Amino acid sequence: MAEEITRAMAASTVQGSSSAPDGAQPVSAEATVAAQGASAQRVTPWDVEGATVDGVQVAIDYDKLIQEFGTRHIDPALLERFEKVTGWRPHPLLRRGTFFSHRDLDYILTRYEQKKPFYLYTGRGPSSDSMHLGHLVPFLFTKWLQDVFDVPLVVQLTDDEKFLFKPALKLEQVHKFAFENARDIIACGFNLEKTFIFSDLDYVGGAFYHNIVRIARTITTSQSKGTFGFNDSDNVGKLHFVAVQAAPSFSNSFPQIFGSRSDVPCLIPCAIDQDPYFRQTRDVANKLKYPKPSLIHAKFFPALQGPQTKMSASNETSSIFMNDTANTIKKKINKYAFSGGKETLEEHRRLGGDPDVDVAYQYLLFFVDDDEEMDKLAKAYRAGEVLSGEMKQKCITVLQKVVQGFQERKAKVSDDVVRQFMDKDRKIDPSPPEPGSTASKQHEAAGRQTTVDTV
Ligand code: TRP
Repeated sequence: MAEEITRAMAASTVQGSSSAPDGAQPVSAEATVAAQGASAQRVTPWDVEGATVDGVQVAIDYDKLIQEFGTRHIDPALLERFEKVTGWRPHPLLRRGTFFSHRDLDYILTRYEQKKPFYLYTGRGPSSDSMHLGHLVPFLFTKWLQDVFDVPLVVQLTDDEKFLFKPALKLEQVHKFAFENARDIIACGFNLEKTFIFSDLDYVGGAFYHNIVRIARTITTSQSKGTFGFNDSDNVGKLHFVAVQAAPSFSNSFPQIFGSRSDVPCLIPCAIDQDPYFRQTRDVANKLKYPKPSLIHAKFFPALQGPQTKMSASNETSSIFMNDTANTIKKKINKYAFSGGKETLEEHRRLGGDPDVDVAYQYLLFFVDDDEEMDKLAKAYRAGEVLSGEMKQKCITVLQKVVQGFQERKAKVSDDVVRQFMDKDRKIDPSPPEPGSTASKQHEAAGRQTTVDTV
């Protein structure tokens, strides 16, 4: 069906919507907000807050987002197909439902099976020079997708976006953050031969800009306002920015990779809050006769305070930063990580804790591969055998290891290496690999994972 993005789709601020793309179920604010002291959940590219019920903020309702946005669940059948086609056991972030939603992922698997080219596209808004764990998760997953598919990856650094949306930041600052963030991204282990990282401020021009204006002409002011909730006092750059984030979805934006070919589709791993951009992009693709991008959506990385919001760089105590020292990590987890344990030791031993809301356990789920180990730990917590302090200690040890490993890799990424990744004239071979040809590498990749047993 046509993906009409209408004024009512105001990101997903759960406002009444009369028409929605891709079969989205309109959800009315009235239905959501029944009780007093209640407010609906709010998930936009700029703001993520769980609903408030009786004055208490609750966890983000991801099923509801799937309904509102009109995306699909990643179900066991799709994961089975993934494994069959690629020969790779799905990543823990897929098995455990962190990447939980998609648009047309099956189509990408079919292309891979048929040895037809596609590429990966992801990005980051460089709002500061230090990235946190939450920023890292989509990149670690994208790195894994690159290991699996062995296809080109483009990474957009939207320094222009951050300049337009954050009045306190200067242009020189965001430009510098982009370069520094590229170093963090490279430290995730991307393959130079297949990866192009670019700053919008540097790369806009040429074929990329040709697409930006083609896109911009297909989006009306009221559509941009409707999709993102802008009003008449917002600067015009914000309304236009969607065209810039859409453009990397089309292969002819990258002549150094695809020449003038405009028929190579991409798969976009991103957090679910970015979906409004790409709903609009898929609508535009129809109009420009380009293939629609496929998407794979992640849940947010919970703040230390709990799953009702996400880690945020502007809130120091909500986040573990990639440049935090081992000691800072320890202090932050001990002091701020929301605990699913009981008030007193006696009560905890008797009634047990709740790993589902325990931030330390939830963080472990992101970084520990072994399902059996994680199950055992959850059971022991529920039984009151493992205490909240012990859970935190395990989390501290694992995160210290993850962050330290990252810092070591980052130290090796010289300015020169960053410039190579960002060189817009460097040719990248787009030819697809033999299906299944990377499967033998998965044990190597798995060997890098941390285990709780090391604690
Ligand atoms: N807007 C995103 C942010 O603020 C950055 C971004 C650009 C992005 N293109 C993307 C994220 C593609 C995911 C996928 O972080």
